[in-house]
Amino acid sequence: MEQYVIRGGIPLIGEVEIGGAKNAALAILAAAVMCDEPVVIDNIPDIRDISVLLSAIQEIGAGVERLGKHTVKITGKTIKTVRVDHDSIKKIRASYYLLGALLGKYRKAEVPLPGGCNIGIRAIDQHKKGFEALGAVVKIEHGMIIADTDSLRGCHLYFDMVSVGATINVMLAAALAEGNTILENAAKEPHVVDVANFLNSMGANIKGAGTDVIRIKGVRALHGTEYSIIPDQIEAGTFMVAAAATKGDVVVRNVIPKHLEAISAKLSEIGCQITEEDDAVRVFGNNELKHTQIKTLPYPGFPTDMQPQMTVTLALSKGTSIVTETIVDNRCKYVDELAKMGATIKVEGNTAIVDGIRKLTGAEVSAPDLRAGAALVIAGLAADGYTVIDDIQYIERGYEGFDEKLRQLGAQIERVTCEKDIQRFKLKIC
Ligand code: EPZ
Repeated sequence: MEQYVIRGGIPLIGEVEIGGAKNAALAILAAAVMCDEPVVIDNIPDIRDISVLLSAIQEIGAGVERLGKHTVKITGKTIKTVRVDHDSIKKIRASYYLLGALLGKYRKAEVPLPGGCNIGIRAIDQHKKGFEALGAVVKIEHGMIIADTDSLRGCHLYFDMVSVGATINVMLAAALAEGNTILENAAKEPHVVDVANFLNSMGANIKGAGTDVIRIKGVRALHGTEYSIIPDQIEAGTFMVAAAATKGDVVVRNVIPKHLEAISAKLSEIGCQITEEDDAVRVFGNNELKHTQIKTLPYPGFPTDMQPQMTVTLALSKGTSIVTETIVDNRCKYVDELAKMGATIKVEGNTAIVDGIRKLTGAEVSAPDLRAGAALVIAGLAADGYTVIDDIQYIERGYEGFDEKLRQLGAQIERVTCEKDIQRFKLKIC
């Protein structure tokens, strides 16, 4: 089983290139099957979730051609079934975007119930509500979500809650519905905007993405396009917070600073120096960090996907911080792992009370999910001594070349598969 081994206590210093946004790429790859002409998509992160989705798209008959490590050509013309039953796709949540894409194009779709990180219940009732409002019959049988209709007609839908997935999924189906659709209380995340821009580049007619009201005029068919995915807000934020936790000096390149404002604002509040260029942000973190309050909110609020990583930095900041998770329940499991490293954090419901300490100490820990795993890497980088992280497959689902990028910033981290590798690592660096 692969692990990371880290020798902590070294400030991260240098520049890191940020890849394409995982959560935009997963939706856009699913949406690419909605036209019969070839679609070329660039700046796709080379991570496991992407490979899983691409193999499922290939399994239903679409053409999938890798033109490069970060570029793929998809041709939906040869799709032979709307039943997605690819074993591993049950492991990723984004499989459900094939529902909206196939329902929009073929008026029918059968997709396994979503898997993904074990963070909270992760219901899909808003997706179902949206598809039903468009005229589809949606049922769940034998672990499959089945959506079917003779005709898909525009609707005026008010989401009961802000949902990134439901906003994107219903937008996909509505793009090829007859008539106009208005989505109210829509999610405003950068990747929602990226998916809307992608659909419009294929001839869709979508306005208002990025606001809480999205207006869609259904079109009869979509055409081929070439498109490049936006940079990953959460990968960039993870490196920014790692710079702060290790009291380093890191420039994240190939980013959209506007997408990082909530993260930059909080890092500045705790004492980091933040400077911005057109496509880069620099985090200088070697002052003594101080406490603050964090409340995760839909964009443009502080992103839930940055909550575990920021909590680690607050665990090393002077004073008591309060972190409140309002988006995903059960997203504090990593606190038990951090306690093994000396962190003093008390979790009450969806709130973590973080008493900052001067130093964490290395330990053997396990990644409970993707972002919590990244947070444990940050803790290991900041801690005194050695940390070994198990279950790094969760981390590698969402971060391309994570250990390599960290080594380029001076981190002493290696991907290992056995105890002998760990001993070899320790001998090499001591
Ligand atoms: C997307 O998940 C991301 N995943 C998540 O990122 C991210 O945490 C989340 O958005 C919020 O930003 C992908 O894009 C693949 P939601 P999603 O629909 O679509 C509840 C990562 O780390 N809800 O906004 O599931 C749901 O249970 C991953 O990259 C309903 O109750 O997010 C969750 O608690 C983790 N009913 C909350 O809303 C629904 O119909 C937010 O869900 C839909 C959602």
